[in-house]
Amino acid sequence: MCGIVAYSGSRNALPVLLGGLKKLEYRGYDSSGIALNDNGQITIRKRQGKVSELISMLDSDSTLEQATCGIAHTRWATHGPPTTENAHPHAGGKGDLALVHNGIIENHRSLREKLTAAGYVFCSETDTEVLAHLVDLHHKGKLIDAVISALREVEGTFGIAAMSRHEPGVLVVARRGSPIVLGLGREETIIASDASAIIKHTRQAIYLDDNDIALIQGNDVEIQALDAGPVSRPTSQIDWSSNAAKKGGYEHYMLKEIFEQPEAIRNTLRGRLDRNRGNALLSGLNLSPRELSELHRVLIVGCGTSMNAGLVGEYAIEDFAGVLAEVEQAAEFRYRNPIVKPSDLVVAISQSGETADTLAAVREAIDKGALVSGLVNTVGSTIARETGRGVYLHAGPEISVASTKAFTCQVSVLLMMALKFARSRRMSRDAGCRFVEEIEAIPSLVEQVLEQNDNIAKVAERYVEQSSAFFIGRGYLYPVALEGALKLKEISYIHAEGYHAAELKHGPIALLDENVPVIALCNEGPGKDKTLGNVAECQARKSRVLGIVTQGDQEAIAALDDHIVVPASPPHTSVIPSTVALQLLSYHIARLKGCSIGQPRNLAKSVTVE
Ligand code: M6R
Repeated sequence: MCGIVAYSGSRNALPVLLGGLKKLEYRGYDSSGIALNDNGQITIRKRQGKVSELISMLDSDSTLEQATCGIAHTRWATHGPPTTENAHPHAGGKGDLALVHNGIIENHRSLREKLTAAGYVFCSETDTEVLAHLVDLHHKGKLIDAVISALREVEGTFGIAAMSRHEPGVLVVARRGSPIVLGLGREETIIASDASAIIKHTRQAIYLDDNDIALIQGNDVEIQALDAGPVSRPTSQIDWSSNAAKKGGYEHYMLKEIFEQPEAIRNTLRGRLDRNRGNALLSGLNLSPRELSELHRVLIVGCGTSMNAGLVGEYAIEDFAGVLAEVEQAAEFRYRNPIVKPSDLVVAISQSGETADTLAAVREAIDKGALVSGLVNTVGSTIARETGRGVYLHAGPEISVASTKAFTCQVSVLLMMALKFARSRRMSRDAGCRFVEEIEAIPSLVEQVLEQNDNIAKVAERYVEQSSAFFIGRGYLYPVALEGALKLKEISYIHAEGYHAAELKHGPIALLDENVPVIALCNEGPGKDKTLGNVAECQARKSRVLGIVTQGDQEAIAALDDHIVVPASPPHTSVIPSTVALQLLSYHIARLKGCSIGQPRNLAKSVTVE
């Protein structure tokens, strides 16, 4: 999704901006651009395509090397196709100011009509150019006053950075529904929509709240709330090392993050399991013993991979704690007027903590009076701050658009939640201690799957040519089927669907033939025999079936065309090694197909629009 970088300080702004744009590439984009303010002269350069193309275009442009203030952007097209004209920054009026914007201006049509009537000429189809001209319309004195007046007329979401040629060195940034972080340097401020663009320069950061607007010049930062005057926001320390956000010798971030999972899960579990009491600590949930015992229902909301992890949580919480649990797509939850009670705990799951639909679901749940908690990876993100209670994943930065380690860490936390809720009810201390051991074994289970990377790459060779695939599973392995299919389609562009193994014969089986393989989760456990029955049904329709099987299970191996083994583990923890096996399978299929794993087409890392 779109990314913003801006700089005001004493250094040459250009390399800082371009370096920041490179760091934001992982979020997904289709054009990029910069604007530099060199003592009253604003120069804008932008380009459809990759940041590297923008950089080559700038190579011959030595006029840009003096500026110490600028803004930059990677655009993920929403209003208008991904062309150079639609790329940001956009100039306001006759070029007196420049602006970059993340988010969507919902009333852009009526504003465009108003501005056209006032004589403004548009060069792009974007809602952002509307905002740039609107700021210009109000630009009679200070830029910040013009931005405030313009934002009062705007409906929708925004993270913006703007500068005027009349105020060299000055940046105005603001947010509503789209993150902005200010990186505080010694004589400079680096602004970005994502901390990964600033950690090379500083770890001291201020996260703007919704409706904050900041005036920045060098290291001077003044923040005000759009309608309430000056405010002070806390400074936080970004705890990612810059190495954590690098590829570290792996060909793609996705592979690096798949291999980081044992360590990431250990970090998620660290200090949160009590072996003696057979319990999980999770103090961040901040639930009093009474709230815990009176918990009526756990409602889990999320999108994509995070929602798939939520399904595992639903199963485990009902299974072990006997507490009603439901998962709902965050986008649906916000619009369908759900019934939520004060004794319901809403758990919002989000790697980025910025997903627009999940954030809106959080706000809806807060308005309805529920207990609302976040299960978030990105420290300081909007969902983490607005929920106020919850559990950080501590998975480290997840750069790959295709989410991997976030899923396995999310599931690890959800299992700990199930344990905590169960122990506050019927689960005995002994059973709790066994559960703790099972959770603690997860990193080693993942390591055993990672050891089979070469073998999984060989299996992948047999599935590269297919254009469609089904993933099936039962019980805890049903969410794994959903996640396996999501991963495959995201990065290999093979059409893939995840189904409950029993559901296949209620329709999708019509599509099976020798060109449509089935990937079946056949791990030892309660549903295995029935799933093997479904495997036979698929093979009877000539589908090739690749099974995930428990190590040593010769019966399952004999029934399958291909197999990948995972170590033995109870059903609730087998989710994690099985998913890791499917992550590697998708990765290798996509690699063998030559797909752009780092920047899958049409996808964005953090989906901050509806
Ligand atoms: O940051 P979030 O966890 O809220 O993101 C939710 C989804 O957009 C995300 O999981 C998406 O489905 C990934 N691309 C999956 O790999």
